[in-house]
Amino acid sequence: MSGLLYTLLSFAASTSLHCAVRREISPCTCRQEDFSAPISNPPLGSPLHGERIEVECEKMESFNQVAEALRGRFTPEQSITLRVSHSYLKDISRHGFKDLKMSITRLELNYDKLGVLNGEIFAGLGRTQYLSLADNEVPSIPRPILSHLSLLRTLDLSRNRISRIEADDFKLHEDDFIEAEMLEDLQLGHNALTSLGGVTSVTPEETTTSNSALYPLKSLKCLNLTHNNLREFSFTSIRGLRELKMLDLSNNKIQRLTRGRAPTENLVEVDGDEMAGAGIQDMHLQHNELRSLEGSLFLGMRQLQRLNLSHNALGPTVGLRDLKGLDGLRKLDLSYNELTTLEDTSEVTIHPCLRTLIFFS
Ligand SMILES: *[C@@H]1O[C@H](CO)[C@@H](O)[C@H](O)[C@H]1NC(C)=O
Ligand SMILES: *[C@@H]1O[C@H](CO)[C@@H](O)[C@H](O)[C@H]1NC(C)=O
Repeated sequence: MSGLLYTLLSFAASTSLHCAVRREISPCTCRQEDFSAPISNPPLGSPLHGERIEVECEKMESFNQVAEALRGRFTPEQSITLRVSHSYLKDISRHGFKDLKMSITRLELNYDKLGVLNGEIFAGLGRTQYLSLADNEVPSIPRPILSHLSLLRTLDLSRNRISRIEADDFKLHEDDFIEAEMLEDLQLGHNALTSLGGVTSVTPEETTTSNSALYPLKSLKCLNLTHNNLREFSFTSIRGLRELKMLDLSNNKIQRLTRGRAPTENLVEVDGDEMAGAGIQDMHLQHNELRSLEGSLFLGMRQLQRLNLSHNALGPTVGLRDLKGLDGLRKLDLSYNELTTLEDTSEVTIHPCLRTLIFFS
């Protein structure tokens, strides 16, 4: 009888994993990732033929319990996705992922009521490309976070309590200013951000070169700031982010959008940098408190294809002059504003690509 039971169990196990140590990692579970599914975008340096294993731990009572269950159970060649959720990890700062001695390529810590985190806990995560700390109570960006996560491509901090970004949150090291960041996707939606740090309201006359907190993120493609408490946004805070394609500022309280410096007609900035935001294709500004778009805000945003300005307080008229420079614009949503007319329709030729204009609510 027990022999039969054993056979059944091992049959069930063999279909899901070669995690030979499976029973030893209880209460965590593990399974071999399905290799038949195409790996889109195989990350640099990832072992193409090595084992990829998903490890899940739920309802853990401490980080120590996670460490006890997993430490020494995997080889360095095994790439691990580790998910720890719905757990109490109050002692996490006394330990750290180094203790686990695993090659974690993807780490998800969700619904763990995580609060203040010392960035040192991320030591030992030199192979991690994806980190999610979403759905916790984190009050600030853990520091130093990127020093230990040099291969990180995605950082998801959505649905936390972050109210500020400090000037050197994303610096790699305290002293030097290495700009070889890999981070492409920064998710900060559903937090309490009132400012982005580094740049305070810069007057247009001031040709300040002070760098914003985001400045080191040279590879950033996607910045999501939806559902925060931003009251103004200056394009200087994305200065130097030449790869940036998507900016989501929707559902904030933005009344003022500023370029941060006087627009120059030749579009070349004093220091030879490209204009901030010049590569953005997709901009989400819906559900804010914008009343006007004055000041040639978008001058130089030649890549912008989709601009959503719905659910603001724009009106009673928007001059297409205000949208000057948007040569590639295809989709413009101006619905749910206080508009009665569109001015300067003769200038519509400045948007040769515009295919969709949603104007009426
Ligand atoms: C931004 O993040 C939210 C979740 O926080 C998501 O629902 C939304 O789709 C994201 N925006 C874009 C443009 O991807
Ligand atoms: C703009 O945003 C609103 C509100 O989120 C949405 O309903 C609408 O579909 C968006 N417009 C376009 C053109 O995507």
